[in-house]
Amino acid sequence: MAAVIEIEPAPMEAAGHMASLHDICFATLPETPWSAHAFRAIMRAPTNRTLMARGSGGKMVGLLVGGVGGGEAEILSICVSPAVRRAGIARALLVAFLSDLPPGTRSLLEVAVDNLAAISLYESCDFSEVGRRPNYYAGGKTKVDAIIYARIEQ
Ligand SMILES: CC(C)(COP(=O)(O)OP(=O)(O)OC[C@H]1O[C@@H](n2cnc3c(N)ncnc32)[C@H](O)[C@@H]1OP(=O)(O)O)[C@@H](O)C(=O)NCCC(=O)NCCS
Repeated sequence: MAAVIEIEPAPMEAAGHMASLHDICFATLPETPWSAHAFRAIMRAPTNRTLMARGSGGKMVGLLVGGVGGGEAEILSICVSPAVRRAGIARALLVAFLSDLPPGTRSLLEVAVDNLAAISLYESCDFSEVGRRPNYYAGGKTKVDAIIYARIEQ
C-alpha cells in the first residue's frame, strides 16, 4: 500500500495520466471515463479545480475534479487507483478540496445508487442525501439512479 506523499493541483501536462487513471477506475462503473482531451478542456475552465494525489514513488494514484462558483461547489469526479484503495487517499483529496471553500459554500455531487464505496466515502465526509435522479446513468446496458449528496461548509 503506497502512502500519499502529496496532494497538489494537477498541471495540464498530467491530462494524459489522468485519463488513463480515470479509464481504469471507471471501467466497471456506469460513468463514462473522460479522455485526455476532456480533461484538458475541464482544466482550462477557470472555475474548475483539479487535484492529484501522488503515491510514494511520485506516481499519480488519485484525482479529484471540482467546480466552484456562486457560493456553490460541485465534485465532478474523484477516483483512486485500485492498487492503493482504502488508504485514505480519496478522503484526503476531498478534504483538500473542501478546506479551500469559504464557509457557507454548498457542495453537491452525484453518485450511482449501487456505488457503495463512494456512498460510504461521502457519508463519512459529512455529505447528506438531498435528492435522487432516476436513470441518471444511462450509458451502459442498464440504467442506474443517482443519489445527490450535499454538504455545507461551516
Ligand atoms: C470511491 C473511491 C474514490 C474511494 O477511494 P479510497 O481512496 O479507497 O477511499 P478512502 O480510503 O479515502 O476511504 C475513505 C472512506 O470511504 C469509505 N470507503 C472507501 N472504500 C470503501 C469500500 N470499498 N467499501 C466501503 N467503504 C468504503 C470508508 O468509509 C472509508 O473510511 P475507512 O477506510 O476509515 O473505513 C474509490 O473506490 C474509487 O476510485 N472508486 C471508483 C471511482 C468512483 O466510484 N468514484 C466516485 C464516483 S461518484
